[in-house]
Formats: sequence, structure tokens, C-alpha cells
Amino acid sequence: MRRLSTVAELRAALREAPRPLGLVPTMGALHAGHVSLIRAARSECAAVAVSIFVNPRQFGPDEDLERYPRSPDADLALLEREGADYAFTPSPEEMYPPGFAASVHIEGPALPLEGAARPSHFDGVATVVAKLLLQAQPDRAYFGQKDGQQVAVIRRLVRDLDIPSEIAALPTAREADGLAVSSRNAYLTAEERSAAPVVHRALAAARDKFRAGQQNAAELEAACRGIIEASPLASAEYVAAVDPETMAPWSGRGPCMLAAAARIGNVRLLDNVLLE
Ligand code: PAF
Repeated sequence: MRRLSTVAELRAALREAPRPLGLVPTMGALHAGHVSLIRAARSECAAVAVSIFVNPRQFGPDEDLERYPRSPDADLALLEREGADYAFTPSPEEMYPPGFAASVHIEGPALPLEGAARPSHFDGVATVVAKLLLQAQPDRAYFGQKDGQQVAVIRRLVRDLDIPSEIAALPTAREADGLAVSSRNAYLTAEERSAAPVVHRALAAARDKFRAGQQNAAELEAACRGIIEASPLASAEYVAAVDPETMAPWSGRGPCMLAAAARIGNVRLLDNVLLE
């Protein structure tokens, strides 16, 4: 595996890479969710690049940029084990040199839910993902469906800016008790960790109702919210049935994503299920 830390090194190395090239953008603290993305890239592509960059622009001023988990040595060892060909580990100055003045702003799917809760978050995501896609020019880039709204925003980004990379979204990796695997799970205390699977349990219960014929968005949202709120440690910030492409409220027809953001203690967890 080659480790690259500048855009010039990345470009020079990838010019020689066999195609198709798969890119897995990450913020490090690699876990089972990332492993599933890397394995998918490995099985579908002739070369695999993984970027590790904790992107300051997608964190709000009062968010967890400083304490976001970082494990560079373990991450690089994992990438070696998983057979990645290139690890791209740029510094913040490499990605955002002095005088950097660009920002990619997406409307539509970026506005509700996380967009409303975390103003400027998706500008930061869209800007860094646009940069990574332009730097690496992969044939395919891999993201986790756990951040379903992020997937919709990135799909809109590549569609609207004619970026010629295919976007692959892989199913959410889960712990044995259903909790969606996330770097931020590390913030949970032992007590909070045992309460946290309620988010997926609530989404799965609403999905069962959907499968049993419930097609009313408000009923599905209420069923999910009720289960989350019944847990003494959990509170639901939002539960929303939305169109997975536009993030507009689900009309009762076509594909639906039931998305939830919940607080368990001070930790904010996201999860979703697709209702099909
Ligand atoms: O999902 C993430 O880890 C990040 O939002 C991403 C896509 C790597 C951009 O920083």
C-alpha cells in the first residue's frame, strides 16, 4: 500500500493505477462499516484508494472536531490488511491552503433534517467530497447508507456538477444488537451503550408496521418516535419519512427512507431504514 499525503502525490500515483479505481472517503477511526465499503471496492475495482481526513469544514463551531476519534496507526494497519492500494492522508493545510475561498452549496436534499439541525454541515461535506472526487477521479466512490441524507446530497452533487464518478451506497453495518456502527458510538458510556439500540429497534418496529400495510407517514413516524421516547435515556430529535433521493416528505408512494436522529445522553446518533 502506498501512503500519499499531497494532492500532487495522489494524482501522480493514480495516473498509473489500473482501472476501475474505487475511492472510499473516510474521516478515519475505521470500523466495520468502513471495512464493508473497502471490501466492496476491493471486489469491484482493480485499484482501491482510501482517504482519511477529518474534515474541519463539516463540523459546526460547537461540535466535536477536537475530540472526534482519531486512530491513524490502527487505520493504516487495517487498510494494509484489507488490501487497499493507496491511503491518502492529507493535512488540513493541504486540503484548505491559505486563502482557500471555495464552498460547494447544495440545496434540495441538503436542506431538511441534518441540514436544518447542523447549518453548513453539508456545505462542508459537499466541498470536501467534490475535492476528493476531482483529486482522485475514481470510477466509483463508496459511502454508507447509515448517513442516508449524505448519500442523497453526494448523488445530487455529482449529478449537478457532472462529476463522472458513480456513487455506491452500502447497507448500514450493525452491531449484534442492531446499533448502527459509527465512530461516535465511542462517546457512549456503558449505560448509554446499552440503551442505544432503541433507535434501530424503533425504526425496525415502524418498518414492521409498513410491511403490515401501514402507509401513513405520520403514523410510521409516531410509532418510531414513541419507542425512542419510552427509553429513559433517549430522546428523538427528529423522525421523518422522506423520499430517499430528494429528502422531501414521503408522499405515501414510491421508495421511503425513515430517518431518525436521537440523543442518548449527550451523544447524537443517526440511523435510518429503507421502506420498500
Ligand atoms: O461520512 C464521512 O465519513 C464523511 O462525511 C465524508 C464523506 C468522508 C466526508 O468527510
